[in-house]
Formats: sequence, structure tokens, C-alpha cells
Amino acid sequence: MIALRPLTYDDAPAIRRVYSGATVTFLGRPAMTCQEAEDYVVRVRERAACDPVEQYILGVDAAGDLLGVVKLGRRPSGHGRVSYVLREDCWGRGYATKAVAELVVFAFTTAGLDSLGAKHHPGNPASGRVLEKAGFMRLGIQNRMVEYLLTFA
Ligand SMILES: CC(C)(COP(=O)(O)OP(=O)(O)OC[C@H]1O[C@@H](n2cnc3c(N)ncnc32)[C@H](O)[C@@H]1OP(=O)(O)O)[C@@H](O)C(=O)NCCC(=O)NCCS
Repeated sequence: MIALRPLTYDDAPAIRRVYSGATVTFLGRPAMTCQEAEDYVVRVRERAACDPVEQYILGVDAAGDLLGVVKLGRRPSGHGRVSYVLREDCWGRGYATKAVAELVVFAFTTAGLDSLGAKHHPGNPASGRVLEKAGFMRLGIQNRMVEYLLTFA
């Protein structure tokens, strides 16, 4: 079981573990430092306090263990953009699929969005599989990324 929840300042060490190893290789960025992880949590909490919220970043929590984050960006048109990052040692257990499915419900209810988009690098098929399992439709390649869409039924 996983739950999506807001980040707290105590999550900084767990966020640093998420943004390390093979995970950051896929994201094409360096591993996070302690300071960057602390700054990240501060930024996320500031964005969560905005009205209206333009970007939600929620922790993926399994029995108190923060496994990763899911992100939802809100566009004024009612369209949202979804992305997700999971710690390397918990890949392949269905956590990302469950987290994205929960984020979709959140997006179409609490956030009041009408449609969602997402993209992944063609060299990261696991990410596409997550989107397909969560109900997204593959649109094709745009700007060297595979684009997906999900509309509120
Ligand atoms: C992509 C990522 C979120 C997947 O997380 P996860 O918890 O392992 O995902 P799940 O277990 O829910 O599902 C993974 C699916 O991809 C499949 N998969 C794994 N490797 C694959 C590959 N090389 N080719 C095709 N499918 C693959 C799995 O079999 C599984 O599908 P299944 O349930 O039908 O068997 C995780 O690897 C990650 O955080 N990567 C780094 C950051 C990233 O790439 N984020 C996405 C940016 S768009």
C-alpha cells in the first residue's frame, strides 16, 4: 500500500536518497546533495502554500518509508502535466503505477483538471509502461520525447 502525502522538512534525507544512483542517470542530472535536498523540500512547501497551487509535489509513502515523489503541474487551461521519480531500490514492484493512478484521481477531483499529459524519454520504456497502466494514451514522439494524454471521462 502506498499513500500520497505532502512533504515535511524531515523528508530531506529521504529525498536525497530518491535523487541518487540510477534514478538520476535516467533524469540526466547529478545526485542531490544534502543542501539541495533541504532546499528542495523548502521549495516544494512554498509552492504548496501558493493560491492557486501551480505545482503539486507529493511524497509516495509506503508504511512511513518515502519511496519517491509524484508531480502535477497545473496549466490555466485546465490541463495538467504529470511526472514521477522513484528510489532505485523499489523499482519493479508496481509502486509508480499505484502512485500515478492515485495522482490521476487527485488531478481530476481535488485539483479539478480536465486532461493530463506526460512524457518520457524513448530510452525509458518502464516509464511509458507506467503511464499505459494508469490509463494514458500514447500520442507519439514530439521533440524527441514520447508524449501521452489522459482526458477526464
Ligand atoms: C520509471 C519509474 C518511475 C518506474 O517505477 P516502478 O515503480 O518500477 O514502476 P512499476 O513497477 O509500477 O511499473 C514498471 C513497468 O515497466 C515495466 N518495465 C520495466 N523495465 C522495462 C523495460 N526495459 N521495457 C519495458 N517495460 C519495462 C515493468 O515490467 C512494469 O510493467 P508490468 O507491471 O506490466 O510488468 C522508475 O524506474 C523511476 O523512477 N525511474 C527514474 C526516473 C524516471 O525515469 N521518471 C520518469 C520520468 S518521465
